[in-house]
Amino acid sequence: MSEKLAVAVLGTGIMGAAMARNLIKAGHAVRVWNRSGDKAAPLAGDGATVAGSVAEAVRDADVVVTMLYDGDAVREVMTEAYPALRTGALWVQSTTVSLEDVDRLAADAGHHGLVFFDAPVLGTRQPAEAGQLTVLAAGPAGQRDAVTPVFEAVGSRTVWLERPGEATRLKLVANSWVLALTHAGAETLSLAEALGVEPDKFLELIEGGPLDNGYLRVKVGLVRGDNLSPASFAVNTAEKDARLIAEAGRQHGVRLDLAEAGAERFRRATEQGHGDKDMAASYYASFDK
Ligand SMILES: NC(=O)c1ccc[n+]([C@@H]2O[C@H](COP(=O)([O-])OP(=O)(O)OC[C@H]3O[C@@H](n4cnc5c(N)ncnc54)[C@H](OP(=O)(O)O)[C@@H]3O)[C@@H](O)[C@H]2O)c1
Repeated sequence: MSEKLAVAVLGTGIMGAAMARNLIKAGHAVRVWNRSGDKAAPLAGDGATVAGSVAEAVRDADVVVTMLYDGDAVREVMTEAYPALRTGALWVQSTTVSLEDVDRLAADAGHHGLVFFDAPVLGTRQPAEAGQLTVLAAGPAGQRDAVTPVFEAVGSRTVWLERPGEATRLKLVANSWVLALTHAGAETLSLAEALGVEPDKFLELIEGGPLDNGYLRVKVGLVRGDNLSPASFAVNTAEKDARLIAEAGRQHGVRLDLAEAGAERFRRATEQGHGDKDMAASYYASFDK
């Protein structure tokens, strides 16, 4: 796809900044806005136009990408965007939000004449920086070609689903797995240390077998190397996702004990001062201090 688009990226945190840079590299005209201006300003050096307001960022945009913390943040920011967006503009909603939020945001988009894509992403800081995210995308089939250049700029794979809401469902399922692995690694490491078992002995024990896991090694390595900042996926964002997953389960008659307990581990880690660190800092929740 070679079409060059005017793209507004709202939210230049860990993920949004990386996505904006890859949109610029792909040749799109990118305007960025962030609530705290200091996180958007460096993108000027990459070729983005840094907007002073949401309205300025989205005016005349072909596509608006939202990569904010949660559904409330998206609603607040888009309330400022709606009056300035042109009818028929595409909205790529990549923030991880609840099932109710995605339905509500899709309805709001319809009321404001926007074409809504439920488009959460899989992958963290490094794949985002490399333009190697997996985009889970659901939106009108007739507009897929129009939005594809955006997905190709930020990701290496797009998984298409039928209707808005289905992409967010798959995203919550995937994050249920990711968060469970993160806590499993954190608890296993803390137990090994408490029992006087050298963690390398455990890693050697499972090496190359069905219990081995690259993600486990990465996350345990971050804790052992005291390399939790800057975060790839921060504890406080992971707590938000754990609560979305637990709530989705409750609403659908499924009891998700791990998600509930995991959310509490993240809450405790935040209480201990680790909220901005990588979610591998769940490890600290195993200890009183
Ligand atoms: N990091 C990952 O590995 C990853 C992977 C896949 C999906 N996600 C999802 O992607 C989204 C962004 O994650 P991230 O890791 O990039 O988080 P982040 O670095 O914390 O960025 C969050 C962004 O949301 C903005 N924000 C928060 N509340 C706001 C509000 N009320 N009004 C306006 N802006 C607000 C922040 O602005 P300020 O700078 O002003 O605080 C920041 O730009 C989340 O939904 C997360 O679950 C993350």
